[in-house]
Amino acid sequence: MGKAISGRTLQTFNPATGEVLSNVAEGDQADIDAAVKAARAAFDHGPWRKLTASERGRMIWKLADLLEQHATEFATLESLDNGKPLAVARAADVPLAVDLLRYMAGWTTKIEGNTIPISVPYTPDARYHAFTLREPVGVVGQVIPWNFPLLMAVWKIGPALAAGCTLILKPAEQTPLTAIRLGELIQEVGFPEGVVNIVTGFGETAGAALANHPLVDKIAFTGSTEVGKLIVHAATGNLKKVTLELGGKSPNVVMEDADLDVAIPGAASAIFFNHGQCCCAGSRLYVHKSRFDQVIEGISNVAKEIYVGPGWEPGTQLGPLVSEEQLSRVKGYIDAGLVEGACAVTGGKQIGNKGYFVEPTVLINTHKNMKVVREEIFGPVVTAMPYTELDELVDQANDSSYGLAAGIWTNNLAKAHSLAAAMRAGTVWVNCYNIFDAALPFGGYKESGWGREMGHNAVDAYTETKSVCMKVA
Ligand code: NAI
Ligand code: MG
Repeated sequence: MGKAISGRTLQTFNPATGEVLSNVAEGDQADIDAAVKAARAAFDHGPWRKLTASERGRMIWKLADLLEQHATEFATLESLDNGKPLAVARAADVPLAVDLLRYMAGWTTKIEGNTIPISVPYTPDARYHAFTLREPVGVVGQVIPWNFPLLMAVWKIGPALAAGCTLILKPAEQTPLTAIRLGELIQEVGFPEGVVNIVTGFGETAGAALANHPLVDKIAFTGSTEVGKLIVHAATGNLKKVTLELGGKSPNVVMEDADLDVAIPGAASAIFFNHGQCCCAGSRLYVHKSRFDQVIEGISNVAKEIYVGPGWEPGTQLGPLVSEEQLSRVKGYIDAGLVEGACAVTGGKQIGNKGYFVEPTVLINTHKNMKVVREEIFGPVVTAMPYTELDELVDQANDSSYGLAAGIWTNNLAKAHSLAAAMRAGTVWVNCYNIFDAALPFGGYKESGWGREMGHNAVDAYTETKSVCMKVA
């Protein structure tokens, strides 16, 4: 790990204890500038662009292999820094990251343009050979959050490298450790100098400098909608390309005919997974009124049974929130809900006074105008509402400035299809939730973002299309 030019460091905390875990470089504008210049030189003049697609793919694959070999180490770092259970990091975060890198390694040799039969009305006698090339967009700035630190790093780095870009990654200040270790593996693979640059630091300084930098061709951001809008403004300087994966307030619908043995644990996991710190958390639960009491009782029972503890304890199912800031944000939302008339069937309180633990919370007596129903809480707090008519349900589900994901629990195939089509959301899960795959695009409608992560869509977003038109007769 290098030092910041200023020599300053920032502290990263163990969210289970509130104690300092480590000090890392506090990069700022000067470090971002140096990193951007390195990435620019590597893109414009380095050996990276001269590698074959296959060679590029093998390097990404090798990074996946190294990550897999160090899976337990990465899961441990992630659990300590973010607070999530070690078993979850080992079963989900790290394997998903490995798989995504392998998926993206495969794309390097499949980034193709088209041959296009053009007619050109004003040159009737001429003949052309016209085709498109997909070229890397260039130097990419990537700013990521703290909820899935390693996975978000890889979601960003993987497609950028597959497309042949060079990049500067700024991890979240709360959780820089796995990105730093990933940087060491990247060095071990032997990517050419300047291709991947990792700068730890704060958003307002390092992050903003990256979004503003005139030598950056594209910025890819995951985080709050508020900062997403700042990124868009910052990008206007040189009109760098922008992709955004932002917040959510995802509706999760349990229909009259749902299999409650599946829907109840499913809806509980949709909100409590990763302590609710998921952009796609199923945080607005809509249950047909005939099943409402049964579902609420079921989810509340699940919530009461969840073992909340530090990430490193083997039995832990739910760890602390990531930071003191996040703890006070979530507590503030719960209090606001209660003041507005919501009722906590279970949960609603902080646990202990050491670390940032909050009880899994189920709020009822909520309605569409409440702050807890409209705004992203990003904690283990679900708001539940009964519905009667399907039309009214669709309007309520879509009544949000967000549109990231939605869940539907039903055994009626026709209703599943029609409701999936009616949801203004980038991902719809039916009889499942939080199912992610490297091949499946993920991203938002409305204020949940621009563009898609994963799938070939993510690779496309790191390319420019060049049309080449050659006169042949
Ligand atoms: P944030 O949006 O401030 O932070 C995300 C990343 O953006 C971090 O790397 C941060 O350093 C960087 N950043 C902050 N200000 C910046 C700026 N002016 N220019 C460039 N980069 C900047 O999110 P924060 O404050 O950690 O969490 C606030 C809320 O945002 C959460 O409660 C949650 O509702 C939402 N959020 C959504 C996430 C998602 O996955 N979509 C992830 C994290 C937070
Ligand atoms: Mg912030």
